[in-house]
Amino acid sequence: MTSFPETRLRRLRQHPKLRDLVRETRVSVNDLILPLFIHHDPDHRQEIASMPGQFQWGLNQLETEISDISKLGIPGVLLFGIPAHKDDLGSDSYSDNGIIQQAIQRIKSVNSDLLVISDVCFCEYTSHGHCGVIDEVAGRVDVDNDKTLELLAKQAVSHAEAGADVVAPSGMMDGMVTAIRSGLDAHDYQHIPILSYAVKYSSSFYGPFREAAEGAPQFGDRKTYQMDVANSHEALREADSDVYEGADMLMVKPAMAYLDIIHRVKQAHPDMPLGAYQVSGEYAMIKAAARDGLLDEQQAMHESLIAIKRAGADFIISYFAKNFVEGSGSR
Ligand code: PBG
Repeated sequence: MTSFPETRLRRLRQHPKLRDLVRETRVSVNDLILPLFIHHDPDHRQEIASMPGQFQWGLNQLETEISDISKLGIPGVLLFGIPAHKDDLGSDSYSDNGIIQQAIQRIKSVNSDLLVISDVCFCEYTSHGHCGVIDEVAGRVDVDNDKTLELLAKQAVSHAEAGADVVAPSGMMDGMVTAIRSGLDAHDYQHIPILSYAVKYSSSFYGPFREAAEGAPQFGDRKTYQMDVANSHEALREADSDVYEGADMLMVKPAMAYLDIIHRVKQAHPDMPLGAYQVSGEYAMIKAAARDGLLDEQQAMHESLIAIKRAGADFIISYFAKNFVEGSGSR
């Protein structure tokens, strides 16, 4: 009797239990973090048109949402704020009564065990919509990296003071991890870890997010501080420098069009926990295609999450977190 190698694989797939037993990659609810948009109007609850199923939440609306998330067993949330007041410096982001500071306290009062990660950036808080302080840099108007660092540290300390468990700088400023680490340490927050968006591309897949967080740049783009989609060696340099600066966890963003980057960063830093952000556009694409009957939403969602883990991510930030648990759960 001849037996080709392929037939052995087939034998292992014929029984569903056996197929599960030899499965190499699994996604469970424990791998997922859900992003939440917090709106300054306390009674606001508005679905985001480009992201069906995702909402902007006012503080008074948060209680039931946080209870739902907790009941589903989702380990944590990543917070973005939409302040009432935007200015040049994005001062709401580091104010004691800022929208995020209030949200963190509110969430902790509902469930102190839920992991609260705060996005540390300025684009949702500045009147110009850029991720830092705007100034004339080398003869043109751009983000001033070094001036921004000081305010990033201030913002991170203020989030920690409000009760954030992890801070996640997403602005791609050089030296942001060092600046935030020394700010936190100086204020006795040595225990607060930094999840650095070490590798963040200048991507069109953030489109729906800019509607959701009301933070589109009012002029220019983010190409001076976000990465060129064509580069992958540069990703390793970005990851190296954040590891060197003391990041506790790294992140690659977006996820699905950057599986090679996730893989390379994990290979280069196997000892660093690695997150991947399945961004707004990735979510919106699957939702829109499913709505039009072009693909099966549950299957496409699972396939995309599995692919991100298979590439090397240890955890995934995903707008699908609730759908995942409400659907069929772990795979
Ligand atoms: C910046 C930030 C962005 C996202 C997360 N943090 C937007 C940007 O860089 O333009 C995008 C996330 C998504 O698309 O889901 N604070």
